[in-house]
Amino acid sequence: MPDLSIDFAGIKAPNPFWLASAPPTNSGYQIMKAFEAGWGGAVWKTLGLPTINVSSRYGSLNYGDRRMAGFTNIELITDRPLSDNLREMEEVKKYFPDHAVIASLMVNSRSEWHQIIADVQNAGADGIELNFGCPHGMCERGMGSAVGQEPEVLRTIVEWVMEVAKVPVITKLSPNISHIIDPGLAAAQGGTDAISLVNTFKSIIGLDIRNFAPYPIVDGFGTNGGYCGPAVKPIALHMLKELAQHPDIGHLPLSGIGGIETWRDVVEFILLGAKSVQVCTAVMHYGFGIVREMESGLRQYMEEMEFGSIEDFCGKALPQVREWKDLNLKYQVKAKIDTNKCIQCDLCYIACEDGAHQAIRLQANKRLPEIIEENCVGCNLCSIVCPVEHCIEMVRTDDGTQNRSWAQLEENGEAPDSFDDPRAGGVGHYVPKPTDALKKLT
Ligand SMILES: Cc1cc2nc3c(=O)[nH]c(=O)nc-3n(C[C@H](O)[C@H](O)[C@H](O)COP(=O)(O)O)c2cc1C
Ligand code: SF4
Ligand code: SF4
Repeated sequence: MPDLSIDFAGIKAPNPFWLASAPPTNSGYQIMKAFEAGWGGAVWKTLGLPTINVSSRYGSLNYGDRRMAGFTNIELITDRPLSDNLREMEEVKKYFPDHAVIASLMVNSRSEWHQIIADVQNAGADGIELNFGCPHGMCERGMGSAVGQEPEVLRTIVEWVMEVAKVPVITKLSPNISHIIDPGLAAAQGGTDAISLVNTFKSIIGLDIRNFAPYPIVDGFGTNGGYCGPAVKPIALHMLKELAQHPDIGHLPLSGIGGIETWRDVVEFILLGAKSVQVCTAVMHYGFGIVREMESGLRQYMEEMEFGSIEDFCGKALPQVREWKDLNLKYQVKAKIDTNKCIQCDLCYIACEDGAHQAIRLQANKRLPEIIEENCVGCNLCSIVCPVEHCIEMVRTDDGTQNRSWAQLEENGEAPDSFDDPRAGGVGHYVPKPTDALKKLT
C-alpha cells in the first residue's frame, strides 16, 4: 500500500494534495469541508492589509465545449477581518492537527511582516507562504507581483520574514517574469525553506466587442487579471523544472501549482520535482470532491509503478529533460496510419499539406490517406490532429545505433555554420514548386 504522506520542509501532511490560497480557502468552514473530503493541506486565502473587492471579478476562456479552460480573476487578498481568520485557523487546527494549514501572507513594511507572522504562528499555522505573485491591485500598492518581479526586494522581504519565523516559510513566486531563476535564487539566498509556484499570469482574457471593455467588466471598465487553470499548466511545469534542475535552488522542497485537475497532472508535477501540489481553479469549477479521483488515481499509479512513497518518484523525470542541443539528431520517427481505424476525415492530410511537409496523399478516388515516407520528417502533427486514438502512430525508423547531438557536432567542427551549408538538415528535402500551389487550385 503506497504511503501518500509527505514532510514538506517540516510541514507534515497526510497527502500531497493541498488547496492553493484562493476562494476555496477563504474560511475555516471551507477548509474543514475540504479536509473532510480528503485534501491533505490548505494554504489560507492571503491575509494582509485591508482590501475592498470589485464586482464582477472573474472571467473564463471557454474553448470549444470546454468551460474554464483558462480562468482569470481581479480579486484581491482576503477582505475578511484578520481576527476572524485567525480565530477560524485556530479552530481548524484543533479539529485537524495532522493536516497542513499554511497561512498565506502579504503586507508591506518590515514591522507589518513581523506582526502578522507572530499572529498566524499564535493561531497555530503549520507554515507560512509569502504571496509575491498577485498581478493586479496589490502590485499597484507595491506588493504581490511588484515584489515577485524585483529579486532584490524579494530577497530583502524573505530575510525580514526569516528573522522571526518559527515555522517553515514557503516563498510563492510570480510567473510574470522572463527568467524564473532570478526570483527563485533570491528566495533561496534570503533563506526561504521552500518555494511554491506559480501564481497567476498577468493577462486580458477577452473583450466585450460591442461595448469595447475587457472582461470581467466593472461598470463599463476592466483591468488586467490573473490567468490560471488548465491552460497555464505547461508553463507552470516548465518553470517548476527550471527551479528543480538549478543547483542552488533544486535542493529546496517545491510545491507545484498551475492548472492541476486530475491525478495525472499531479503525477506530472511530482515527476518534475514537486513534493506537494496546490489546486485552485479545478476546485472552483468542480468542488472539493475532485480529490477522490486524484487520490485513487495516484495510489493506483504508485502501485503499478511500485513506488512506496512520494519521495520515490519526486523529480524522476528531471534527468530526461535536457537542453535541445543535447538531443539525438539521428533519432528518426515517421508516421504510420492504421487504415482499419481510419474514419477518412482527412484532418491529417490537410494538416500535413498546409501546415507541415506535404507528406500525406489521398489515395486516388478515395479519401483514405497514405504517408509518403520519404517526405515525412516525423513532426507528429498528423498524429496529434487525428481524432481516432492510435490510428496514426509514430514509428522509429533509424536503427538505434547512432547518436549525434548538436553539441557534439559543434565540438567536432561538424555543425553547419553558413546560410547555405550543405550539412543543414533540410537540404535536399522534398518541397513542391511554388507554382504547384496554383495547379491545385484550378
Ligand atoms: C479567484 C482567485 C483568487 C486568488 N487569490 C489568491 C490569493 O489570495 N493568494 C495567492 O497566493 N494566490 C491567489 N490565487 C492564485 C492561486 O492560488 C493559484 O496560484 C493559481 O490560481 C494557479 O492555480 P490553478 O491553475 O489551480 O488555479 C487566486 C486565484 C484565483 C483564481
Ligand atoms: S509526421 Fe509530420 S511530416 Fe510526417 S506525415 Fe505527419 S504531419 Fe506530415
Ligand atoms: S486524421 Fe486519422 S482518421 Fe482522419 S483521415 Fe487521417 S488517419 Fe484517418
